[in-house]
Amino acid sequence: MKKIYVDLKSNSYSIFVGHSIFSLLPEILAQKKLNKNILVVVDANVEKLNRGKIKTLISAAADKHNVYLLKPGENSKSYTELNKIYSFLLDNNYGRDTLIIAVGGGVTGDLAGYSAATFMRGVQLVHIPTTLLAAVDSSIGGKTGINFEKKKNMIGSFYQPELVLIDTEFLETLPKDEMVSGAGEIVKYAYLSDSNFYSFILENISGIISGSNKQLEKAILNSVAIKAAVVSQDEKESGLRKILNLGHTFAHALETELNFKIKHGQAVTAGVIAALNLSNILNLLPGRHLNNLLQLPKKIVLPRKLTGLNNENLFRIMLHDKKNRNGKIKFVLLSEVGNLLLDVEADKKYVFKALDKMKKDITC
Ligand SMILES: NC(=O)c1ccc[n+]([C@@H]2O[C@H](COP(=O)([O-])OP(=O)(O)OC[C@H]3O[C@@H](n4cnc5c(N)ncnc54)[C@H](O)[C@@H]3O)[C@@H](O)[C@H]2O)c1
Repeated sequence: MKKIYVDLKSNSYSIFVGHSIFSLLPEILAQKKLNKNILVVVDANVEKLNRGKIKTLISAAADKHNVYLLKPGENSKSYTELNKIYSFLLDNNYGRDTLIIAVGGGVTGDLAGYSAATFMRGVQLVHIPTTLLAAVDSSIGGKTGINFEKKKNMIGSFYQPELVLIDTEFLETLPKDEMVSGAGEIVKYAYLSDSNFYSFILENISGIISGSNKQLEKAILNSVAIKAAVVSQDEKESGLRKILNLGHTFAHALETELNFKIKHGQAVTAGVIAALNLSNILNLLPGRHLNNLLQLPKKIVLPRKLTGLNNENLFRIMLHDKKNRNGKIKFVLLSEVGNLLLDVEADKKYVFKALDKMKKDITC
């Protein structure tokens, strides 16, 4: 088992990564002296696949424990579901000494995390991500929240967990399209890192997607280490943390235009392709490097429906992105692997050019 530290002064925590390490949870909770009144919020698919294992293990660590089964899917990131969790906690006499353990993907982590952040002004939280996307991204960094009026992540807060436990054994049951989605975020980290990690991901991306243990564990460890280092320096996204949004301005527009009928990580991969092209169009990334750097995202198969999207609509959505200031779209672009450029503005015609090139790249 490997351990990565997120250094956030009084909000610091450890991320444990390994295969079959879930069984160590009672020991780790005891070592950390975490509260023993535990509510496990678990994705119903994950609970079913693990046939009671989660409940049995948590019961060994708890004075009191209950399992809240969460209906899988984005619709569960709602006020309705949040209120149900509050009621469940109150009906079962949970108080300020509660520990909420989120077991599932990003949906479970975001909802359970926001419940923990707000119930009785904040109770302890542990993340046990069971999707690749949650392992490398959503369980780390403290972003929690729910959707509101069909808008994603409109209500939420930064709330750090006591610890994160990533057991790669959970990923063995994850459907391929979910692995592809998580791989989109790993691709993004490859550009934030250095040429060694970039080359490793370029060579091993198909092994990672097919769940090859050694490659997967290395990819997760490095991705988590990058996110932990960035978040440690900028907990609330006032500066450096924006680099984690490489490809995301485009990705959010693509997801919105497709009514979220595309996996987040696939949208991120397409978004990275558009961002690389925009970097080149703005003369920030030389043409001879562009083609090299496009090799990686082109290894991921993306849905053809991306190529039919209307540029005007995408641009309008990007203009309304909550990360913008003064009506200008702020892009994260790059000049080489590891060298990111923040808050870059671009004329509409160049954004259109980048979108057109992305659509072409996807079909090649
Ligand atoms: N907080 C953050 O920083 C952050 C970052 C990125 C994304 N997100 C959020 O994360 C969410 C997406 O997360 P996700 O991609 O993990 O999706 P998800 O939580 O919806 O899980 C995807 C599917 O995988 C299933 N599943 C989960 N673990 C499984 C396993 N081990 N085996 C088999 N099936 C399993 C789930 O039941 C679900 O059907 C979005 O709501 C997004 O907004 C949050």
